[in-house]
Amino acid sequence: MNIKKWKDAYYAHKWMKKNEPFLSVWHVYVGYETELFKAFKKGKTVEKVSKEYNYEEDLVRRWVEVGEAIGHVKKKGSKYKTSKKNCGEFLDDRTSHAVGALLKEMMELHIPTILAYPDYIKKEGRAHFDHERFGKTVADTSATLENFAYKQVLKMISSRKDGVVVDLGCGTGGYTRAIAHKYPKATVIGVDLNKDVIEIAKAQSKQISNIQFENVDLADWSLEGEAVDVVLMHNLLHYIPNHEREATLQRIAGWLPSGGQISIMTPVTEAKFGEAFVNSFNAFFTAHDNLFSLPSQVEMQQLAKSADLKVKNIEPIIKEGAWHLIHLVKE
Ligand SMILES: C[S@@+](CC[C@H](N)C(=O)[O-])C[C@H]1O[C@@H](n2cnc3c(N)ncnc32)[C@H](O)[C@@H]1O
Repeated sequence: MNIKKWKDAYYAHKWMKKNEPFLSVWHVYVGYETELFKAFKKGKTVEKVSKEYNYEEDLVRRWVEVGEAIGHVKKKGSKYKTSKKNCGEFLDDRTSHAVGALLKEMMELHIPTILAYPDYIKKEGRAHFDHERFGKTVADTSATLENFAYKQVLKMISSRKDGVVVDLGCGTGGYTRAIAHKYPKATVIGVDLNKDVIEIAKAQSKQISNIQFENVDLADWSLEGEAVDVVLMHNLLHYIPNHEREATLQRIAGWLPSGGQISIMTPVTEAKFGEAFVNSFNAFFTAHDNLFSLPSQVEMQQLAKSADLKVKNIEPIIKEGAWHLIHLVKE
C-alpha cells in the first residue's frame, strides 16, 4: 500500500472506531422499543422469542449478536439472556421508562435533526418541532431531571407556601404535583399548550385537591386580577423566541407582588462546565424554526434586569449539561 492509501485507511479506521460507542445506544434503543431485553430476561432462543412476539427472526438474531459482542446480551448454548449487569435497567418498567424516554428523544428527535444539519447550514430549510408527536417524549425526558431539582424548588417556595404557584409549560406536571403535595394550602396551577401532556398531568393528579391544569398557550394565560406568588418556567425558555423573552418575562413579572418569585430551569451556554452537551443541545434547538437558542448566563442576568427582577441564585443542577436553576425575586 502506498503512503497516501495507508493514510486514507488510517483516517477511515480512526473515525470508524470513534463511531463504535454509538452501537451501544442503537442497541439499547432497539431493545427498549421492541421490549427485547424483557423478552430475553430469562434466557430464550431467538426462534422462541421471534415466535412469541411475531418478530422477524433474522433481524432479532442480528440484534442479539450485536448485543453479545458489546456485552448487552449473554449467550448460553442456543439461548440468549439479557445482561443484568449492563442492561438490568431495561428489565424494570420504571427505570426502563426513564432511560427509554431519553433514548427516544435522542434517536427519534435529535438524530434526524443532526443528520439534516448540513442542509440547514446550506439554507435548505430548518427542522420543525412537532408538538403533537414529540410533546410527551420531551415532557418525559424533562421529568427525569426533576429528581435533581425538587429539593431546591420546594425550598424556594417555602416562604410562599399559602400562595398561588403557576407552573408554565408544566408538561406532565411533576413539579406541579410535588408542590401541591408538599404545600396543601397553596393553589397550584399547571399551564401547557400540549393537550396530551395536560391530560396525563390531570390523570396523575386526581387525588390532589389544590391543583388545576389549563391547556393554553402561556401567551394567552393570566390570572384575571389576582396576584401570582411563584412562577415556574422549567425547561421552557427554548420554546420562546429570543426576541420575545424580555417582553414575556416582563409580563410574567407583572403578575408578582413584591417578594414574588420566578424559578427558571434551563441549560445555559458559556458556563464553565458541560460545554459539549449544552452546545450540541443548542445546535439542535437552533436547527428548528420553532425552537430557539439557549441563553448564556450573562444573558439570563440581563433578562432578569430588564424585568426588574433580582437574581437571588443561579446554581447548577446537572453540571454535565450546564443545567441551571435560576431563582429570581421581584423587589
Ligand atoms: C420540555 S417540557 C418541560 C416540562 C416541565 N416543565 C419540566 O421541566 O419537566 C416543556 C413544556 O412546555 C410546553 N410549552 C412550550 N411552549 C409553550 C407555551 N407557549 N405555552 C405553554 N406551554 C408551552 C411544552 O408543551 C412542553 O410540555
